[in-house]
Amino acid sequence: MNKTILITGGAGFIGSHVVRLFVNKYTDCNIINLDALTYAGNLENLRDIENKANYTFIKADITDENAINQVFAENNIDGVIHLAAESHVDRSITNPGAFIKTNIVGTINLLNAARNSWKENSANKRFYHISTDEVYGSLGDTGFFTEETAYDPRSPYSASKASSDHLVRAYFHTYKLPIVISNCSNNYGPNQFPEKLIPLSINNIKNNNSIPIYGKGENIRDWLFVEDHASAIDVIFNSGKIGETYNIGGDNEWTNISLIRMLCKVMDKKLNREIGASEKLITFVKDRAGHDMRYAIDSTKLKRELNWKPSLTFEIGLEKTVDWYLKNDTWLKNVISGEYEKYYSQQYTKR
Ligand code: NAD
Ligand code: DAU
Repeated sequence: MNKTILITGGAGFIGSHVVRLFVNKYTDCNIINLDALTYAGNLENLRDIENKANYTFIKADITDENAINQVFAENNIDGVIHLAAESHVDRSITNPGAFIKTNIVGTINLLNAARNSWKENSANKRFYHISTDEVYGSLGDTGFFTEETAYDPRSPYSASKASSDHLVRAYFHTYKLPIVISNCSNNYGPNQFPEKLIPLSINNIKNNNSIPIYGKGENIRDWLFVEDHASAIDVIFNSGKIGETYNIGGDNEWTNISLIRMLCKVMDKKLNREIGASEKLITFVKDRAGHDMRYAIDSTKLKRELNWKPSLTFEIGLEKTVDWYLKNDTWLKNVISGEYEKYYSQQYTKR
């Protein structure tokens, strides 16, 4: 085998697409997926590649320093792609502590393990930290987040991700750890846990339950199909410049309400419902605390320097996503049992 690449959070939404891409594309590399399998981690996401010769799964928690050191001691790791995180803003509002532990303490454990293991021999090594556009805060009607935009995180989730980004950059400047960072906009696509807007709405429409829209639905997000994020991660991991940051976005801004109206039309068609039937499920509920108004990414640097671009239009990506959820009913049923039901009633019944 050529190289060993450690991917953290590989059983989650984005991580599973990255693991699949790397296992299938880099057959001469060992791909290790390290994941604690929290409520958001699901090995079902990787059934198609789990028996490949170049794939290994390790169940471990990045907040467990000894476990992480052991993984580095037992494997000759050349590269890290760090996706493991607590990722849902609403959960960070009700339970910020879990975000501090995983997103900050977990990241420093990985940084220390990489630094100790690579020591002076880090020339061909790479620590790639996956982050979010939310670290830049909230935009008004105009402007875009560039790599130079000052950090202004406003939720416990984004503050914890901002802290981890700062730590990763500090290890580059202080210890010359060969790092690279990317900050991406909202992802959508197959395997996303149905606590996030698009899969939650698909599931509710399917079951004729109300679609909860926070506030007036005027908040704007920039949506990117998850496989396009995975392809950007591949390009940045292999060709990004050490010490640099790359913004990744879809050039695809939607207010939540127009996005949901479009989704309702797609669902009406797929479920053979009368046009307008699903829209009747839209319900405006109490706004998210500190709800960021607008995110929009300028990914000129990534496009110009590394020749990346999104491959899909939103219309096609959304239809593919709906098709996947309707076809994978068992996946959906399994993830919405147990913990999800408790979460859903706590999050939405009082709104
Ligand atoms: P996710 O919640 O779907 O998956 C997170 C994964 O991390 C899960 O498999 C979970 O089991 C694992 N994990 C959580 N805590 C862990 C711990 N302590 N130790 C080991 N594993 C742990 O998240 P996602 O949406 O796939 O996001 C992945 C990464 O991408 C995160 O770092 C997130 O901040 C970032 N990101 C997400 C988006 C998005 O729209 N979803 C956009 C930009 C950046
Ligand atoms: O921008 C990147 C970020 O995108 C990632 O870093 C996060 O990990 C990811 O969760 C996502 O954060 P958002 O908060 O933007 O995603 P979410 O799907 O939770 O919400 C999208 C928008 O929809 C947001 O404006 C809140 C709104 N919303 C969300 C839910 C769950 C609703 O109106 N109703 C809902 O029930």
